[in-house]
Amino acid sequence: MWYRFLLIGLAWGQSASDQGKTLFNQRCAACHKLEQKLIGPPLARISERRSEEWFIKFVSNSQALIQSGDPQAVAVYKEYNQQVMPPFPDLSEADLKAIWTYVNSVAAPPPNVAASSSPQQTIYPGETRPMKSEEFQFLRTIYWIVTAAFLLVALLIAFVIQFVSLKRASESS
Ligand code: HEC
Repeated sequence: MWYRFLLIGLAWGQSASDQGKTLFNQRCAACHKLEQKLIGPPLARISERRSEEWFIKFVSNSQALIQSGDPQAVAVYKEYNQQVMPPFPDLSEADLKAIWTYVNSVAAPPPNVAASSSPQQTIYPGETRPMKSEEFQFLRTIYWIVTAAFLLVALLIAFVIQFVSLKRASESS
């Protein structure tokens, strides 16, 4: 019996996040991407910089919030060259909450190995943390020492073989 409620709950939760995604794609995606700037700012994980209450106010009527002098709204409006984001009076609070849930459910992308710029920040394959440049230099030194030792040994063996075969040749003649 109880699992029916669980299933209903799961389905309901699922449809809420689906609804957020659908609404986002239909109403916001023309100007917003999740991870990159488009006409407006990226919206993935916006809860890291804005409250849900602020989000609902801004999306339902951004101009009203900007004109009320809200510092965050004014700042983002200026940053995006005073482009007017249209109001969405037809979206209910539940709709806006569904969008909020959807954009905040997008997981952060893994740190990009190729994009890290300074050598101190480079994460080599198999490393779980950035390697310090001293460590890198140390490893490079070890690498060259091992390589040189290997070459030396190979040279020595070649030398001995040459020597022995010359000696045999002179003995047999
Ligand atoms: C016609 C283009 C357009 C559409 C459609 C649009 N936006 Fe925007 N949005 C913008 C612009 C431009 C800004 C930058 C602020 C400004 O200029 O007002 C912005 C800013 C925002 C911000 C503030 C971001 C921040 O970093 O503070 C949020 C949140 C937001 N939009 C959500 C939405 C949602 C949710 C929808 C869909 C329901 C939507 N927007 C649809 C253009 C748009």
